[in-house]
Amino acid sequence: MESDGLLERLKAIDERCVMPTYARQPVLFVKGCGARLWDEHGRNYIDLLGGIAVDAVGHCHPRVVRAVQEQAEQLLHVSNLFYTEPQFRLAEKLTTVAGMEKVFFCNSGAEANECALKIARKWGKRKEPPAVEIVAVEGAFHGRLFGTLSVTAQAKYQKPFEPLVPGVRVVPRNDVSALREAVTENTCAVILEPIQGESGIHPLSAEFLRAARERCDEVGALLLFDEVQTGMGRTGTWFLWQQVGVKPDVLTAAKALGGGLPIGACMAHGAAANVLEKGDHGSTFAGGPLAAAAALATIEAIEEEGMLHNAQVMGEYLRQQIASWREHLPVTDIRGKGMMIGFDLAVPLAREVVRIALHEGVVVNATGEQTLRLLPPLNLTQEEADEGLRRLRVAIEKVV
Ligand SMILES: Cc1ncc(COP(=O)(O)O)c(C=O)c1O
Repeated sequence: MESDGLLERLKAIDERCVMPTYARQPVLFVKGCGARLWDEHGRNYIDLLGGIAVDAVGHCHPRVVRAVQEQAEQLLHVSNLFYTEPQFRLAEKLTTVAGMEKVFFCNSGAEANECALKIARKWGKRKEPPAVEIVAVEGAFHGRLFGTLSVTAQAKYQKPFEPLVPGVRVVPRNDVSALREAVTENTCAVILEPIQGESGIHPLSAEFLRAARERCDEVGALLLFDEVQTGMGRTGTWFLWQQVGVKPDVLTAAKALGGGLPIGACMAHGAAANVLEKGDHGSTFAGGPLAAAAALATIEAIEEEGMLHNAQVMGEYLRQQIASWREHLPVTDIRGKGMMIGFDLAVPLAREVVRIALHEGVVVNATGEQTLRLLPPLNLTQEEADEGLRRLRVAIEKVV
């Protein structure tokens, strides 16, 4: 297709042929490199959203591209009825950096959490009477499949699809006494995101996380950490549990894991690692050679190019710069860790800021009427950060 009018033609196809589940911005991206994107007219954008935390090593990282090219020429798919090398090399590397023992591969974050929930239910069935309840946290986002939707405690996602999977109890964020009360002998697991991402970058307190660990141990339930968004270096360590010092029994990852290719992982250690047995779970595409090769290259890039450190330093820099806007702009609360940043505006104009920011050449996202979210590549440079912030500031000034 000619690039002239291409976006309009694609919009028409979207309307005619695609189920309308997404509210897309009217931009057509055709190329990416590091933290920059280009549209079909050659305009460049600083990407401070990183494909919603997927492009942690930047767009088209050369290592990932090379690994994908080489693997694509060798073998694309054979299924899990056979051995392929990248899957097992990835299993060893990923469980090591995550501090876990075993992994089940899948294709997305929701699937990783679905696996975690199945481990939890089967774990609870060992008791007599069986413990089947799962405790989740208000405002959480764990995915849109039926199991994960059932623990995604937000009415806007759940209501249209009820009845959901039964046996879920929901506690308010950071309410330690409600958590202690909700976790009983009937509980098989507590599931949580250590920093809630989709609800607007809301950290769970260390006290709440510790209480979850303690209560799970007291009643023999599993603690599940959904690190689909916080994981793979996003907050400055491979996984956030490694900073907060509360170790989950089951840990999920996806998003950044594949460097842009779809792959998810449900990991576990201790007895939880041996709950699933032959035939209990499976997936046709999971851990396929192409996605696994991309994931291995992604981990190597994060490790060898100092991206965990950069995520800490540059994340702090971004937060400080945004904090300095408070003097002149209606910026209120600033939250997050490393390259996971959310901040509120005093006015409900975050979606308008996102729209104008695109005109100014910077990609960000709104998680609500007042909250802007940044999930930049972990290897963002100071120059890219400054340019991105300058463009974002202009957008905010224009809107508020
Ligand atoms: C914390 C968390 N868990 C699960 C998911 C679902 O991942 P996916 O969209 O890959 O199914 C997301 C997606 O945003 C997420 O942020």
